[in-house]
Amino acid sequence: MQFRSVFIAIVIGFALIIGAFFINRQRPNIETNQPNEAFVRASGKCAECHYRQQYSVVHEYEMSEHARKGVNCLDCHQPAEHQERVDHHGFVIARHITPGNCRACHSAIYGEFLRSRHASAAWAAIYGAKGLSAEQVADGEKYNPGYVNRPPHPFTTLEGGSAMVSGCDQCHSVGRPNDDGTIGNCTACHTRHTSSVAIARLPETCGQCHLGPDHSQLEIYTESRHGLLFNAQRGLLNLAASPRQLTTRDMFVPTCATCHMSGINGLKVTHNPGERLSYWLADAVSKKRPNYAEAQASMKQVCNQCHTMPLIDRVYSQAEKVVETTNEKVLAAQNLMNGLRQDGSLTGKPFTQPIDFLYFDYWHYDGRTAKHGAFMGGADFVQWHGNYPLLAKMVELQAMAAELRGKHGRGAH
Ligand code: HEC
Ligand code: HEC
Ligand code: HEC
Ligand code: HEC
Ligand code: HEC
Ligand code: HEC
Ligand code: HEC
Ligand code: HEC
Repeated sequence: MQFRSVFIAIVIGFALIIGAFFINRQRPNIETNQPNEAFVRASGKCAECHYRQQYSVVHEYEMSEHARKGVNCLDCHQPAEHQERVDHHGFVIARHITPGNCRACHSAIYGEFLRSRHASAAWAAIYGAKGLSAEQVADGEKYNPGYVNRPPHPFTTLEGGSAMVSGCDQCHSVGRPNDDGTIGNCTACHTRHTSSVAIARLPETCGQCHLGPDHSQLEIYTESRHGLLFNAQRGLLNLAASPRQLTTRDMFVPTCATCHMSGINGLKVTHNPGERLSYWLADAVSKKRPNYAEAQASMKQVCNQCHTMPLIDRVYSQAEKVVETTNEKVLAAQNLMNGLRQDGSLTGKPFTQPIDFLYFDYWHYDGRTAKHGAFMGGADFVQWHGNYPLLAKMVELQAMAAELRGKHGRGAH
């Protein structure tokens, strides 16, 4: 019967389509929707092998804005200037990928990044000027004078190579010098293949490095109102919004990136967080930065997208008092230490006597934490991880100083 054969044909046709769909689903999207020949050649071929061997690499890439905009595997993996070329299954790829591979398309961002302390200053904090070329030191000094041309950190020799490589380097590599002469590592915040702004906007991403007793930013954020609301409402935020269109409708609760980098409601995105910072809070005694006024105005403008000026000014004036009083406390401890060295009660190299460590913890843990807590809503860090240990450790410092003077026959004073 005619009706029957049409029915069978439809069923068979349908089964074929479903079958094809299921077979096709096993293949990476990159093989199935290929926009043009060059794209097929570069991404399709790379993906063909790597989809089977390292599925996650291709999968992460497929979800990226790069895949949507037709940026293929080879656009990043081809050797850029001064990079070592490696033959690879019919292609030539670079041995390592650096910002040199991103800057062809993102040169302004690379320039901004270079001015930031995430660039050469981060590496020099460990290895000093010795870790960089003379040209890199000269460039870095233009943007962060005194923080690039400096001696290596004493811990490089005291703790030894493996502690540096598996410890300090892992965080400070955000500003590492690369073999091709470029600086830094964009994937520290964007990851290799998602190239995601959503991931860069997560507090945990910054918290890979910004945590612990010497820079407790993640912990401070987590206990702040901002962190509370972020954790309660993260599902309602549009973390993936395009940077140029990001508004407080997408992000009505700030993360680290919102305050330090994002261009919310038409403000400018920056890859130099220093543009919005008015003090050098990481230093033992915190001075105002040369761009103090502009930086404070820029950060307050960000706060102002969600708060009114009286609240913002109150936070700043209270926090600036914490900076002032912490400076006074650290200066008192510094004077105590200098006094011991001057009268000969404390001798030898730094970090060889118990009192050296007590003094280091005094400013490096407690002093810093108090200042950071005051600006970012961490009351517990201003008090129990900040001012309380400052109080207790000053008593200990004084007792140790008296003991050292006693040993050297100078009596307590
Ligand atoms: C014929 C298969 C094949 C093709 C085509 C192919 N690769 Fe590979 N690739 C491999 C294999 C196999 C390895 C080694 C994997 C391992 O060590 O487990 C590899 C390794 C790599 C590595 C790591 C290299 C290293 O030294 O750490 C990168 C990066 C890479 N491939 C990128 C690409 C890119 C980009 C393309 C396209 C331009 C591509 N591959 C094309 C098979 C292939
Ligand atoms: C946005 C730039 C970018 C694109 C696009 C890109 N990659 Fe990569 N890929 C990287 C970076 C960065 C690394 C880390 C390389 C390094 O450490 O030297 C990497 C590493 C790899 C590795 C080694 C991974 C490992 O953990 O050992 C493979 C394999 C690879 N890519 C394959 C691909 C394939 C296949 C594609 C396309 C489907 C692709 N990549 C697209 C930037 C990119
Ligand atoms: C061949 C050019 C090209 C290269 C190379 C390239 N990108 Fe991109 N990138 C783009 C384009 C195009 C976009 C889409 C942005 C737009 O629409 O303007 C983009 C967007 C991005 C975004 C924003 C994604 C989003 O969700 O909005 C990030 C982050 C990014 N790239 C990082 C990188 C990094 C890191 C590298 C190097 C490892 C790199 N890119 C290499 C062209 C490139
Ligand atoms: C967990 C990640 C991490 C590790 C490990 C780490 N640092 Fe840092 N370091 C940071 C971060 C984040 C800052 C920024 C602190 C700030 O601005 O509040 C910093 C700041 C510094 C500073 C002060 C800024 C400057 O340029 O003067 C110095 C010095 C420093 N680190 C040296 C070291 C040394 C030396 C080691 C190893 C002995 C080390 N760091 C290990 C993340 C790390
Ligand atoms: C310290 C973390 C961090 C590092 C390192 C970093 N980025 Fe970003 N990047 C971000 C954040 C956060 C955003 C999103 C800003 C926002 O919320 O709008 C972003 C946004 C971007 C965008 C989209 C901006 C736009 O205006 O469309 C691109 C492209 C990009 N980054 C490329 C790079 C490149 C290239 C490098 C290396 C030179 C790099 N990033 C290094 C955190 C980082
Ligand atoms: C891979 C580790 C790493 C990641 C990830 C990272 N940072 Fe940093 N950051 C550092 C180091 C190291 C320094 C200190 C550099 C120095 O001055 O020596 C630093 C410094 C800073 C500073 C102080 C800059 C200045 O001018 O003093 C700010 C603010 C900052 N980071 C914010 C962020 C934000 C926001 C994110 C996430 C979007 C982030 N960082 C992600 C390692 C990291
Ligand atoms: C509500 C906005 C806001 C949020 C959210 C925020 N910060 Fe901050 N942060 C500030 C302000 C304000 C300062 C002090 C600015 C100044 O010096 O004028 C600061 C200071 C810092 C510094 C000190 C830089 C120095 O001078 O040593 C670092 C590093 C930092 N923040 C990282 C982070 C990280 C990482 C996160 C997320 C875990 C975060 N911040 C979340 C507003 C914010
Ligand atoms: C994207 C929006 C947004 C930005 C930007 C922002 N905040 Fe907030 N802030 C909030 C929200 C939401 C709350 C929670 C208010 C509540 O408890 O209902 C909050 C709470 C606070 C509180 C606690 C208020 C209280 O009385 O308990 C302070 C203080 C604060 N923010 C200061 C700042 C400062 C200073 C900045 C800039 C450095 C800033 N905020 C940037 C959204 C923001």
